[in-house]
Amino acid sequence: MAIKLPGLIDVHVHLREPGATHKEDFSSGTAAALAGGVTTVLAMPNTQPPLVDAAAFQMALDAAEQKARCDYGIFLGANLNNAAELPALATQSAGLKFYLDATFGPLLLDDIGAWREHFEHWPRHMPIVAHAEMQTLAALLFVAGLYERPVHIAHVSRKEEIRLIRTAKEKGQLVTCEVAPHHLFLSTDDLPAPNGRGAGGEGRMSVRPRLATPTDQQALWDNLDVIDCFATDHAPHTLEEKDSETPPPGFPGLETALPLLLTAVHAGRLTLDDIVARMHINPRRIFNLPEQPETWVEIDPAAEYEIRAANHFTRCAWTPYEGWPVRGRVRRVVLRGQEVFKDGKILAKPGYGINVRMA
Ligand code: DOR
Ligand code: ZN
Repeated sequence: MAIKLPGLIDVHVHLREPGATHKEDFSSGTAAALAGGVTTVLAMPNTQPPLVDAAAFQMALDAAEQKARCDYGIFLGANLNNAAELPALATQSAGLKFYLDATFGPLLLDDIGAWREHFEHWPRHMPIVAHAEMQTLAALLFVAGLYERPVHIAHVSRKEEIRLIRTAKEKGQLVTCEVAPHHLFLSTDDLPAPNGRGAGGEGRMSVRPRLATPTDQQALWDNLDVIDCFATDHAPHTLEEKDSETPPPGFPGLETALPLLLTAVHAGRLTLDDIVARMHINPRRIFNLPEQPETWVEIDPAAEYEIRAANHFTRCAWTPYEGWPVRGRVRRVVLRGQEVFKDGKILAKPGYGINVRMA
């Protein structure tokens, strides 16, 4: 028996274009999205070059227009000297991304004066998303509060972070947040032994924010009501790169998020409504996304199988969940009246996707 879900929205993906299309591009990344039941992706700006000015942003917009198979938005990246320049591009963008803690790529906004400048310049009605962990999160919430500005916190992974966000919400602060499936389903228990945490010994399991402790992981499940979105942070790197001496951080996630979440529904840890709220209703509201008419995802909730990277459309060709048994499969996806995925086949052509800000 098939169940129909609305087209899912993933507000945090890395599609690597421009600059690293051997890892992913708009065509392969949006094929992976459709196979995962995702009909809208919001793409991050830590590309090469990073999307910090009009020229780089236009490169990404052009590539997406030609190659995206599902609908998309593209974030701009804040840096130390582009606060005055970005507002002119704002309405074409998904929003503004603040990288406040170190991760993959050159974007790091480690100057509180620059935070203020961006809060002062960026249009109030356009989203701001921040990668901000622990004390950085506390500092960001304080500054955003001074400006009475909504902020969306990316990939929350720790107990103290989700507690801080809960308290901020209870005090009336305009803050929303997302959690990535890998922080719900993996922890430091899944790191290779001996636990090489911090010493570069995480191997393939390197990701930012790092996999957290089982206590942190449990705190995310215990505070589901504080989590506005599930977002994959789909961060493809090739297996060769992941198995090198200096593995770049990040996991692919677009094709595994829904099966993992549906398996949690089967186990009684979540409801389907929990998924729809966090991958459709709340993302649409927080990021002000247009409705996709005649759009839905058909799933077979009883299908049992094992996750295999070999069956995936992402170019990175690996998954941290290889061999995991899951229950729940995407059968068919219809996007704006067109059948775009059916029984393992991508039917949408590159270029079918539209920019959510042009709709
Ligand atoms: O693990 C990560 N990988 N975390 C990030 O924040 C960036 C991402 C990437 O771009 O590879
Ligand atoms: Zn990311």
